[in-house]
Amino acid sequence: MASSKPDLNIGLIGTGFMGKTHAFGFSTAPKVFDLPRNIVLHTVADVTQDSATQAAGALGFARATDDWRKLIADPDIDVIDITTPNALHKEMALAAIAAGKHVYCEKPLAPCASDALEMARAAEAAGVKTQVGFNYLCNPMLRLARAMIEAGELGDIRGYRGIHAEDYMADAATPFSFRHDPVGGGALADIGSHALATAEMLLGPITEVMGDCVTMIGTRPDGRGGTRAVEVDDVGRAFLRFANGAQGSVEGNWIATGRQMQHDFEIYGTKGALAFSQQRFNELHFYDGCDAPGRRGFRRIEAAPEHPPYGRFCVAPGHQIGFNDLKAIEVAGYVDAIAGDGAEPFGFCAGHRIQTLVETIQTSSRHRAWKSV
Ligand SMILES: NC(=O)c1ccc[n+]([C@@H]2O[C@H](COP(=O)([O-])OP(=O)(O)OC[C@H]3O[C@@H](n4cnc5c(N)ncnc54)[C@H](O)[C@@H]3O)[C@@H](O)[C@H]2O)c1
Repeated sequence: MASSKPDLNIGLIGTGFMGKTHAFGFSTAPKVFDLPRNIVLHTVADVTQDSATQAAGALGFARATDDWRKLIADPDIDVIDITTPNALHKEMALAAIAAGKHVYCEKPLAPCASDALEMARAAEAAGVKTQVGFNYLCNPMLRLARAMIEAGELGDIRGYRGIHAEDYMADAATPFSFRHDPVGGGALADIGSHALATAEMLLGPITEVMGDCVTMIGTRPDGRGGTRAVEVDDVGRAFLRFANGAQGSVEGNWIATGRQMQHDFEIYGTKGALAFSQQRFNELHFYDGCDAPGRRGFRRIEAAPEHPPYGRFCVAPGHQIGFNDLKAIEVAGYVDAIAGDGAEPFGFCAGHRIQTLVETIQTSSRHRAWKSV
C-alpha cells in the first residue's frame, strides 16, 4: 500500500563500511520510528558502475551510478548522504548544498576547521538541513548518563576520562590510506573526534586543552611496492578543562593493540560516578556515594524500555541493541529535523565545533602549551 507521507529520496555516495551502515540506518528507521517522511532508497554512487550496481542490489537502492555529480544533479533526490573518504567530503557537500539538497556527511566533516565552517555557513545560507555521523551519541545509555548528570545525581562534576581506542593501525604493514592524509587525517581526527563529541555531550563545553599528538609508525607501505612517510598522529591525547569547572583527559588511539572498540568514559562527581564502555554499550555503571558504607560499589544498569528510544527496538529489558541501530536512531532524528522546524541533532555547526577541538589540540601539541578553544 502506498504511503500517505511525502517521499524523502536518499542518494548515497560511497558503499563501504559506512555506506552499508547508513543503508541499514535508512532501512531500519522507518520500521522502528514513526517517521514524518516515507524513506526511498533512490540511488547509490561509487567509483565504478559495477561496484555501484552491486551495492544497489545488496543495499536495496533502486538505481546506481559511477558519477556522484549526476546523483547530486538528479532533481528527484532530496538528501545527499556522503560516506566517502574524508578528503572528498567538502567538495561533495558544497556541490550538494549548491543544488539545494539536505546533506548527511560522515565525520570528520572536513580536512580542517575553516573548511567545516565554510560548509556550515553554506548550508545555513541555503536553508538546507545537515547531519554529521556521530552515531555513538545516539546510544540510549549515553542519554541516560547525561540525564543523570543534569539531574544532579552525581553532584558537582570534578573529573572526566574519555578514550576511543582501536588497533586497526597497530600493524606497521597496514598500508597508507585516506586516514593517513596529511591534511585532516590521524587518530585524533578519525576516532578521537568521537571521544571529544561524547565528552562535550556529557559535560558541556571544553574551554582549554593541552595536547600531545604522536606518530609512532613513521612510514607505511604505499600499496605500489614502496613506502610513504606518515605525518599524522597515531595517538592524540589531551588534558581538558571544562566550562563547568571539571578537568580531565581524552585520547584517540588507533594502535591500541588488542582494542577493537574502546569508546569509554568515566565521570567523577561529588556524590557519585559513572563508567561506560562501548564494548558493552547496553550497560551503564553507576556508583552512588549515598549507599551505606560496606555496601558501596558500581551497579550495572542494563538498557531497557525506560531508556528511550531503546523501547522502540525491543519491549524487553536487557535484550540489547546493536551498532547499526545507533545509525537508525541518528537517521530518525535527522529525518524529523528535515520535516520540521527544529534544529538538527548534530548538524554541520556541531561538526565544525568538533573539528575546532581537534585542531586546537593539534596546535597545542605542536606548541607544547595549553590553548583556549
Ligand atoms: N561514524 C562512524 O562510526 C564511522 C566509522 C567508520 C568510518 N567513518 C567515516 O566514514 C567515511 C568512510 O569511511 P569507510 O570506513 O566507510 O571507508 P570505505 O573505504 O570502507 O568506504 C568508502 C567508500 O567510498 C567510495 N568512494 C571513494 N571515492 C569515491 C568517489 N569519488 N565517488 C563515489 N564513491 C567513492 C569507495 O569506493 C568506498 O565504497 C570516512 O569519512 C570515515 O571517517 C565513520
